[in-house]
Amino acid sequence: MRQKIIVGNWKMHGTLADAHSYVKTLLPYLQSIEGKRVLLAVPFTALSRMAEWCSGSSVELGVQNIFDQEKGPFTGEISAFMAQDAGARFTLIGHSERRKIFHETDEWIHRKVVRALSCLQPIVCVGETLEERDTGKANEVIRKQIIGALHGLSMQEACRIILAYEPVWAIGTGMNATAEIANAMHKHCRSVIWELFSEEVSNKVHILYGGSVKPDNMESFVHQESIDGVLVGGASLDPSQFIQMIRHI
Ligand code: PGA
Repeated sequence: MRQKIIVGNWKMHGTLADAHSYVKTLLPYLQSIEGKRVLLAVPFTALSRMAEWCSGSSVELGVQNIFDQEKGPFTGEISAFMAQDAGARFTLIGHSERRKIFHETDEWIHRKVVRALSCLQPIVCVGETLEERDTGKANEVIRKQIIGALHGLSMQEACRIILAYEPVWAIGTGMNATAEIANAMHKHCRSVIWELFSEEVSNKVHILYGGSVKPDNMESFVHQESIDGVLVGGASLDPSQFIQMIRHI
């Protein structure tokens, strides 16, 4: 049985004061939670203070992106090691907003995955656009993104990956995929992981669904056999909504 995981992705939101008041609401609730992983991908600016505030709690902190080098003349970038040093335990990689706005390619995402594996757990995001879905290319696109990101990893490394299937047309649009569409795509993701590594790895890798997940639709996703949890953007910004979702995962 794979453990259930919920990840909140704050994106570019929140001051330190917002972050502090968020954890004051969230942490007391987490004391009664067992057997699920609660992760928060916070802005770099909040990370080290969040690490202090969350120390001793079960919440795992991470970042939303890293650069693919360890250090050097890369103005404005942050390495996996620096994120770890500031309190991160995981990083999102290849979120569709980064693929689209910052032109991240599968090759670049692969280099970030390799770099992250030295000190952080990578959460690799994949997803097709509406046009790709409408023209019957969704499976092929997802296969290409998974192979592009994960090829060449050892079995052991592959088992540490969390994959997030986030259809681009469902992110921030309020138009979530149906649980059946998501489950079918998760099965497809597992078959690609099997093809790349082995059946054992494909059974071990956690695969999350993301895209307009909210308290009132999340149960339908987590009841699907192939869905191990959710990656939540907008609805994770409100701690009481996030708590409702943790409860139902
Ligand atoms: P959303 O974002 O929940 O606001 O659709 C999900 C994500 O971008 O990870």
